[in-house]
Amino acid sequence: MYLHALVVSLSLGVLIRGAAESEWCYNKCDQGPSQWVYYPDFSCGGKTQSPIDINISHAVTDHGLNDFTFMNFSSKHVIKYIKNNGHTVKCNLTKDAVEVSGGGLKGTYSTLQFHFHWGDTKHHPGSEHMINGERYPMEMHIVSMKKGATVEEAKKDPDGFAVLGFFINATEGGEKSEPWEKLTSYLKSISEKDKELKFNEDISINDLIGHVDLTKFYRYSGSLTTPECNEAVVWTVFHEPINVSKDLIQRFASDTTLTNVYRPTQKLNGRKVHASPAIPLPNSHSWCYDDHCEHRPSKWHLLPDSKCNGNRQSPINIDSDSVEVDEKLVPFTFKNFGNKHAIKYITNTGHAAKCVLKDDLVEVSGGGLKNVYSTLQFHFHWGTDSQDSEGSEHTVDSKRYPMEMHIVNKRKDLSLDEALKAPDGLAVLGFFIEAPRSSKSGSSSSDAHETTNPSSNPTSNKEAWNKLTGYLSAIPNIGSSVEVKEEISIDDLLGSVNRDSYFRYSGSLTTPSCNEAVVWTVFKESVRVDIDMMRKFPKHAGYHDVFRPTQSLHSRKIYTSASSVPQPILCYVLLACLCAIFR
Ligand SMILES: *[C@@H]1O[C@H](CO)[C@@H](O)[C@H](O)[C@H]1NC(C)=O
Ligand SMILES: *[C@@H]1O[C@H](CO)[C@@H](O)[C@H](O)[C@H]1NC(C)=O
Ligand SMILES: [Zn+2]
Ligand SMILES: [Zn+2]
Repeated sequence: MYLHALVVSLSLGVLIRGAAESEWCYNKCDQGPSQWVYYPDFSCGGKTQSPIDINISHAVTDHGLNDFTFMNFSSKHVIKYIKNNGHTVKCNLTKDAVEVSGGGLKGTYSTLQFHFHWGDTKHHPGSEHMINGERYPMEMHIVSMKKGATVEEAKKDPDGFAVLGFFINATEGGEKSEPWEKLTSYLKSISEKDKELKFNEDISINDLIGHVDLTKFYRYSGSLTTPECNEAVVWTVFHEPINVSKDLIQRFASDTTLTNVYRPTQKLNGRKVHASPAIPLPNSHSWCYDDHCEHRPSKWHLLPDSKCNGNRQSPINIDSDSVEVDEKLVPFTFKNFGNKHAIKYITNTGHAAKCVLKDDLVEVSGGGLKNVYSTLQFHFHWGTDSQDSEGSEHTVDSKRYPMEMHIVNKRKDLSLDEALKAPDGLAVLGFFIEAPRSSKSGSSSSDAHETTNPSSNPTSNKEAWNKLTGYLSAIPNIGSSVEVKEEISIDDLLGSVNRDSYFRYSGSLTTPSCNEAVVWTVFKESVRVDIDMMRKFPKHAGYHDVFRPTQSLHSRKIYTSASSVPQPILCYVLLACLCAIFR
């Protein structure tokens, strides 16, 4: 009985699906793209759909997007058939002959086919993806499937398919491209739906791609752009278009009578679009710390989307007389701070030296934080290369330290976009950096500061700092980055600094857009680093004094962890007890 019902419902499903698949269309029928979302078996109403409009100014450079390896893209004998399937013109390739890997893809993909999206005969453009709101005349999709997977498996895998999207730009008259001339000469003969011809030309996929720079591309996670819209595609959209003469582009609409065969763009829903390092991203250096550019700190609030004029801005001066003890500020729990392979690369952002960590590896919780945070990156603020340089962002009782290190953490349950909007979306750990005390004054009990703070003699791992600062000479240019291969952990860099004793307040990012989304922790004890290593930051980066002036506290309060009993005192107490016992 139960089995029977199952069989009936399964076969019904197949029937409905079969009917729906044959019915969908782009225009010319009732089942256009706006209706696709209502098919229960389709994913077209999902949250990670394609195509999208790529806003270049919101794209983020991903240094993992290395060069592609294309196998048999230049073979002149892999395009087997050309077919009109009623929705598009599709070229099927020789099975298992063509492959794509690299380009930040996880593994090797077998290339199955390529096909096209276009507009109409009145020059209405018909690319699926858009770039900064612009639609190109056409788009070519080269579709590959994870090597070794079946179609059914691939449809269920978020990385099941890799599609390469190429924009096609119309050029006026001029020289016609011979490969495109040959390809489009077939269109008249396959004007009817389901008509298929053997392809007998000696042209390769590379002949069609032409001079496009294959190192410049965007990457995002999306879907097939036709029903069933499976969310199983790693998308690559190349930045440069293929230039094809206008007359040849026209043939797609006029010879097949299929027109406007593209799906409208879909919502991003918080997805990030990544750019390969070869793409120069605009606007990323349009603000600065000094007055060599228009947007110095006093003008940051004029930048687009700026929150820099808000009333919970960072950094601040911490007046140690007016802080309040908060018993909830307990010790932190640090996960993988000891991992010596957590740093992916170090980059010169033009404002700082930033160490980007591997995804989902390092975490921070406890310390009075209400959530678990994933550690994204850490970076440095510095002054000049002089002996008495001051370059920290926070100050304590108006004292500015030589440098400050910021470890940036994002609430694990939020996307970065969401975190930037939540008041506690980010947690930043700030450590002051100064030179080690010389051994003479370090143990001197005549030093007033020493006697009030007897446990304070932190050290950090000199070798780790040496390795880290050694990379700075490899990134002299803004935007350059270098993979970190040496073994360096965050624990090594922090050394024995007391991580239980800190200040807490609510603030903002200290760089534009200054989002007021940060739970700040500023540690009382400073990390000790040799001055020669500190000097490498301004020397190799080529800029200095990269810190924002302190901001008004307004009505905010600064809290402090309860002062822990310094170790030596604890020892005395223990000794006293022991003595008492043995007396
Ligand atoms: C594909 O490339 C491989 C290795 O380069 C080669 O042996 C094979 O003949 C090529 N196949 C076709 C159909 O060109
Ligand atoms: C597109 O083609 C036009 C000529 O029709 C040319 O001026 C323009 O630079 C091309 N665009 C790109 C991005 O190559
Ligand atoms: Zn397509
Ligand atoms: Zn910072």
